[in-house]
Amino acid sequence: MEIALEREGHRDGRPVYRQIADSIRAQVATGSLHPGDRLPAIRDLARQLGVNRDTVALAYEQLATSGVVEASVGRGTFIAQRIADAAGSAPLVATLSPLTERLLAFERARPRFGSATDAVPMHSLVPDPSLFPADEFRRVLNRVLQEQGPELLLYGGPQGHPALRNVLAERFRSDGIDIEPDGIVLCHGASQGISLTFRLFAQPGDVIAIEEPTYNNVLAAAIALGLETAPIPMRDGGLDLSVLEQTLARPEVKALYTIPSFHNPLGTTTTVKHRRDLLEIASRFQKPVIEDGYETDLRLDGRAVPSLAALDSTGGVCHLFSFSKSLFPGARIGAITAHGRLVGALAALKASTDLSDALPLQAALAEFVSEGAYDRHLGRVRRVLLERRDVLLSALETEMPAGTRWTTPEGGLQMWVELPPGLDTSDLLPDAVRAGVLFSPGAQFYPDGRESGGLRLTYAMADSRAIRAGVKALARVVNERLSDAPQAARLHM
Ligand SMILES: Cc1ncc(COP(=O)(O)O)c(C=O)c1O
Repeated sequence: MEIALEREGHRDGRPVYRQIADSIRAQVATGSLHPGDRLPAIRDLARQLGVNRDTVALAYEQLATSGVVEASVGRGTFIAQRIADAAGSAPLVATLSPLTERLLAFERARPRFGSATDAVPMHSLVPDPSLFPADEFRRVLNRVLQEQGPELLLYGGPQGHPALRNVLAERFRSDGIDIEPDGIVLCHGASQGISLTFRLFAQPGDVIAIEEPTYNNVLAAAIALGLETAPIPMRDGGLDLSVLEQTLARPEVKALYTIPSFHNPLGTTTTVKHRRDLLEIASRFQKPVIEDGYETDLRLDGRAVPSLAALDSTGGVCHLFSFSKSLFPGARIGAITAHGRLVGALAALKASTDLSDALPLQAALAEFVSEGAYDRHLGRVRRVLLERRDVLLSALETEMPAGTRWTTPEGGLQMWVELPPGLDTSDLLPDAVRAGVLFSPGAQFYPDGRESGGLRLTYAMADSRAIRAGVKALARVVNERLSDAPQAARLHM
């Protein structure tokens, strides 16, 4: 048996025992060694290679662990009889499904911010961890585990922990949604609510009507499920109702997904009139509505507008809720409210996906909400976010060049900025990163990834001082571009 070692400094980074094991594995793979062949005794091979016996013993041990050899006391070490997988047969080159390939292509188009750690993170929709009530939550989690014991460590029912559904039903009812705890299906964040409700109404090849622009992960969810999307353009007052009418008239369009409050990425909120008109159209065409209320608890100012679920009288609205933005995303707790047979169907889909969510987190959150800790946290976090939002608005006013427009969100964590004509924000991003600010270019919120002069700015992660610096950097980059732009582009302004 020939084994070549590269001992000096492990040129390829592999320790000697691994080189011995790999060499034997390769000889099995190429057929130089066969099942049943006897390997040299440890002592002999160590002498032959000029290495320590322990080194050979370690190599043999590794080969035995991975099933390439079998050791038999007193007889020696043999190449195993059944070695197909373990002997290093050619690695499987799996063919990914076309849907997964499409999803990967979509993911590749997302901007990567990688090493830009010093830049102001105004692209991020992840809430600021310095605001998380982590100690308070930990205490509640310890307490529920102590009090409720091992039962909390079992699988839960597919609708989730009853205590959390009770407290949520009460809160939803006070927001005007007519729902009992039995009408709630808890889920792994609103993200899972999106996938479950899409699957509730549509199968591969079907179409979901979406807003354009919209939350980019909704586009990803549709791709992964083999669904097409029918984009409905967003106007100043919300999605275009006449395009909605034409879209929902198409039989292959199975449902509408909409974010009426604190829209992502636009930051806008629709009026009651727009909501009523939308519901009238949906019910006329008998199409269900998936309402994403992921930032419901983050209203910062202005008057609360009833949700679509609160205004609906047909039972055709599935409302998604999440604790990710208002508390923290790591608990991965969201909720779907639904009516009639949709509830059982959602529970079946949920069970078929992952059986149930983690009960300890749901039980702790139920306690956290019912003892008032969540509302106290909301009070604190809303004050901070309101200040940040106002700092952002006034920085835009002071810094940005004429011709820039932006939305004024009444809540949530994000707003949309439209740059003067002639600029593509994807193209601008590398300069902005170098200048010290991160934003989400508009293209990623459109299904066709088109050029966009819009961008999303958030005040989730950056504090007021950072926000001022971030907007200054953005304005600098935009001004430079405008002064470089050909005269023709500027004439549009
Ligand atoms: C519109 C919208 N819906 C849902 C989610 C996902 O939330 P969750 O963390 O609850 O899955 C996000 C996250 O950014 C979002 O922007």
